[in-house]
Amino acid sequence: MKDYIIKDEWNVIEEGFDPQLNKISESIFSLGNGRMGQRANFEESYSGPTLSGNYVAGVYYPDKTRVGWWKNGYPEYFAKVLNATNWIGIKVQIEDEELDLAKAEVSDFKRVLNMREGYLQRSFTATLSSGKRLKVNALRFCSIANDELGAIQYQLEPVNFSADIKLTAFLDGDVKNEDSNYDEKFWDPVDTDINNEEAYLTLRTKKTNFEVCTGSFIKLLVNQQPQQFKASLTQQDKFLAQEITLNAKEKQCITLVKIVANLSSQNHPKSELLQTAKAVIAQAKAKGFEALLDAQKQAWAKKWEQSDIIIKGDVAAQQAIRFNIFQLFQTYTGKDDRLNIGPKGFTGEKYGGSTYWDTEAYCVPFYLATAPQQVSKNLLIYRYKQLGKAIENAEKLGFTNGAALFPMVTINGEECHNEWEITFEEIHRNGAIAYAIYNYVRYTGDDSYLADYGLEVLLAISRFWKQRVNWSADKNKFVMLGVTGPNEYENNVNNNWYTNYLAVWCLKYTLSVAQEVQQKRPEKYAQLLAKLSFSDAEFADWKNIVENMYFPFDYEKGVFLQQDGYLDKEQILVKDLAASERPLNQKWSWDRILRSCFIKQADVLQGIYFFEDDFDHQTIKRNFDFYEPRTVHESSLSPCVHSILAAKLNDEARAYEFYLRTARLDLDDYNNDTEDGLHITSMAGTWMSVVEGFAGMRVRDNQLIFNPFLPSKWESFSFKINFRGATLTISINAKQIRIYNASAQKLSVIIHGQPQEIAALTETEISNVTLV
Ligand code: BGC
Repeated sequence: MKDYIIKDEWNVIEEGFDPQLNKISESIFSLGNGRMGQRANFEESYSGPTLSGNYVAGVYYPDKTRVGWWKNGYPEYFAKVLNATNWIGIKVQIEDEELDLAKAEVSDFKRVLNMREGYLQRSFTATLSSGKRLKVNALRFCSIANDELGAIQYQLEPVNFSADIKLTAFLDGDVKNEDSNYDEKFWDPVDTDINNEEAYLTLRTKKTNFEVCTGSFIKLLVNQQPQQFKASLTQQDKFLAQEITLNAKEKQCITLVKIVANLSSQNHPKSELLQTAKAVIAQAKAKGFEALLDAQKQAWAKKWEQSDIIIKGDVAAQQAIRFNIFQLFQTYTGKDDRLNIGPKGFTGEKYGGSTYWDTEAYCVPFYLATAPQQVSKNLLIYRYKQLGKAIENAEKLGFTNGAALFPMVTINGEECHNEWEITFEEIHRNGAIAYAIYNYVRYTGDDSYLADYGLEVLLAISRFWKQRVNWSADKNKFVMLGVTGPNEYENNVNNNWYTNYLAVWCLKYTLSVAQEVQQKRPEKYAQLLAKLSFSDAEFADWKNIVENMYFPFDYEKGVFLQQDGYLDKEQILVKDLAASERPLNQKWSWDRILRSCFIKQADVLQGIYFFEDDFDHQTIKRNFDFYEPRTVHESSLSPCVHSILAAKLNDEARAYEFYLRTARLDLDDYNNDTEDGLHITSMAGTWMSVVEGFAGMRVRDNQLIFNPFLPSKWESFSFKINFRGATLTISINAKQIRIYNASAQKLSVIIHGQPQEIAALTETEISNVTLV
């Protein structure tokens, strides 16, 4: 846990330079625009601890699997989003000294991530060993107005000297991934093109043959006046540089503007990449840095209009929730159904930028409420387009008849994970994909999705569950053996309650969707069944499983059992663990973890969260009271589920306590791992804690429901959502709830069980409800 980020409502601020914190800050101050992103590395050289990171969405390398003991069924490779050309580089030399913050004396260091307007600013004064002092002020952004563009304005001022200064703007493609399995570099050179002001570096990924052209344009100003310059050029295979020497005078303001385009062959024909990059640079150059920055500010203002959460009375909470929303929108904008959300987004290498069940279980609810409908639809279509691969994936494991097992980890639809207990056994991810379809349709009312895409996915997933269960003569029930639930601190268990429940729910949901599509779109239905060679006998098999599935349950305690035999474990509680033993995954052997009763993340409780309407209050409470004290929350995805359930159980204090664990997870480096990158997908969980937890928002029977309470530390909070064409701002204080409906259609909602009419284009005050 760290406490160095200065609290502010709209900015993330670091003051003072501590090299030990630099990698953490590089993650926290990351920038992105959905199409590309980067860690907050310095523009100038830095020889201290750093993890260089520039990423281009969708561009990956299949890094050959490296495991000790190969198991049949393992994937051949792990697809990784690559560290790509470093486009921010500006080397600064003053006579024979190089500016390097690891070597200079640094004062007045300040980094600010302006979340309202979407840029990163860094300023400092550096005193070099010669005693020469210079001030630097750098501002940069990844444009969301044009997501192929980034821009930097790098200003420096000689404080106490006049001397020759060399500024070298460079594009460096000779980069590596720290997590490369065989210490290989992943890029081959294709083409270079450079002149005084512009440089273009095109590289190709090995094996996958993606091409990325990075182009840059530079401009020099002295005291805000544009300058002519003659740069000395370096042109290597993977490295281009323009070195400008200028005779700098004391107190002059020297500015280098660098505008960069990153174009990938995913979006442009390879043969046109260079020429298109030149056109993008020409347009950006014509607009200029200020106009690009203005467009960035406007684009972010629009995003905040749809998604802001305002918390009054708690600056730390306010900063945290905006940070989470900001990072989610920096990671995924929903424009492209080939892209998805890696657990670390563009902020680090861990998890390879690949897609996990996190997207469906955590991110979809966030984007449904805060972005246009197409955004979450694209997340669903991503999986729809990968259905063929999911069927192949299941075939590799021995399943037949069009059964689909979506991968645990993927970029292009092929499985990338290579631990048998997860790859083969953590199959609950299939259920999360079905659940996201349900969630999407429930929220948007867009049931045409089911006939057009959803049913096909659901049928394939249900075929998988049918084959994955078996009849137990002993139990006289269907069982599911050898699985890993969301709690990865148990592997190869039988009858994980969550997975069994989810499987049965998938079968039931598919049966009901099939019926609905058959009634509403009979032709489409008939076509689909013919395409899939589907026979009605399959439905009968599914019904049989639905009616005869086994669910482990303890009658004495009245709780669902996480899996068969869970109660055989020594029942110790987390509160009895010494602080020195945690986190368990760093302090205990894996063997000890597996045998213990400790739960990594919500498992039974994840199921109760998904299907809360199936359970009465007492059942939820008994299970919560049993599992919560055994949960160590060593996945960042966990506390939000506990927060939402605690809120449902009217346990405000605990709802708030769990929320705090997720809200500032990265800002305060709670788990000591922020330097690897941010926990992007769990940021959606933080949003869920506020909206589904504190505000108790649900959608039931095509209607919005709220059961809000106000955390005692807050004066009020408000959040924005869109719902079926309406844009609502819901404000909650200690006395009342106000809903502003910015759309021209009225809406009825339910607040604490009472129906309320929300008129169009007005604010409705609801005071006759008790805020629990
Ligand atoms: C969690 C998984 C999650 C993955 C990526 C793991 O630690 O246990 O549930 O999908 O991280 O966020």
